[in-house]
Amino acid sequence: MVKAVVLGAAGGIGQPLALLLKTNPLIDELGLYDIVNTPGVAADLSHIATPAKVEGFLPPNDGLKQVLTNADIVVIPAGVPRKPGMTRDDLFKINAGIVRDLATGIAQTAPKAFVLVISNPVNSTVPIVAEVFKKHGVFDPKRLFGVTTLDVVRASTFVSEVLGDLSLSKSVTVPVVGGHSGVTIVPLLSQSSHPLPSGFAQDKYDALIKRIQFGGDEVVKAKDGAGSATLSMAYAGAEFASKVLRAVKGEKGVKAPTYVSLAADPKGAEALKKELGQELEYFSSIVELGPEGVVAISPLGSITEQEQTLIKAAVPELSTNIQTGVSFIGSSK
Ligand code: NAD
Ligand code: LMR
Repeated sequence: MVKAVVLGAAGGIGQPLALLLKTNPLIDELGLYDIVNTPGVAADLSHIATPAKVEGFLPPNDGLKQVLTNADIVVIPAGVPRKPGMTRDDLFKINAGIVRDLATGIAQTAPKAFVLVISNPVNSTVPIVAEVFKKHGVFDPKRLFGVTTLDVVRASTFVSEVLGDLSLSKSVTVPVVGGHSGVTIVPLLSQSSHPLPSGFAQDKYDALIKRIQFGGDEVVKAKDGAGSATLSMAYAGAEFASKVLRAVKGEKGVKAPTYVSLAADPKGAEALKKELGQELEYFSSIVELGPEGVVAISPLGSITEQEQTLIKAAVPELSTNIQTGVSFIGSSK
């Protein structure tokens, strides 16, 4: 029996994500939690003719504890989204406290669950969850993930557009490493499963990198004050959750880029440290998944000089973002 839980399930991401999880045959039970509207969302989804049993919870009557009881995997899209002109870091003020409180609930009720963090800024909210878990003595770095799949999905789409064939987008894979905001998003186009056309011009390369790094802004701008990516994020979140569950069920060789604590694989961390030129506590790289979560974190491998430059720009910002998350828990009561 697998129980999946969505915290923030009535939101722009939460609802379509819950819909996709309801159709996932690997899930037997789906728990939905939000501060509003989950009974309605749960009632609606419960009419879909798939086996997962759906229940909705609100904060009264220990709703968080109830939804988290027996949870195997918890996905967190709770929190405020950006408006035009904001950076993801501008969301920290509100979302840090939301994520801290939800992480406390998970640490108390479902400390062994796999935790998938979507709430922004991911570079800082993942360290927040880890620090809360450490405070409760239940931190297992192999079971905590920052969801960076949307960057990977965007890279597949935009590269297949460049190749002039959107039908390739399902098979184009590009490792996107680093973190999840602006310059911390580093697409390794030299390792794309489908190489760029030979003689691809430098300005076109730069524009493609920028589009992957700032794809979120494109959606924020188009939504014009009504929020950020929700549908593509729900798709990406469901894809990543499905990978975690396939690995839990014993499928071998399941891999995905995801933002993890490097303590999950000390050997991989050592190799990354050499490549990055400094130690970071968290980094998104290709991670092999297994029944207990992280099996191995891949080093970057062979990358181009241009990609080295992108990594150099990402590392200091990532380091600051990580410290912001860690200090928040150090200083909060
Ligand atoms: P939204 O406002 O539509 O939904 C957020 C939901 O969270 C709301 O239903 C709200 O009631 C709920 N919520 C707020 N406080 C809560 C609490 N304490 N407990 C439970 N639920 C609570 O926002 P959205 O568009 O769904 O975005 C959610 C978050 O995901 C944002 O922070 C956004 O920046 C982030 N995001 C991340 C990625 C990524 O790639 N990781 C992509 C898109 C969006
Ligand atoms: C995204 O990449 O779409 C999300 O992180 C949301 C945002 O704020 O851009």
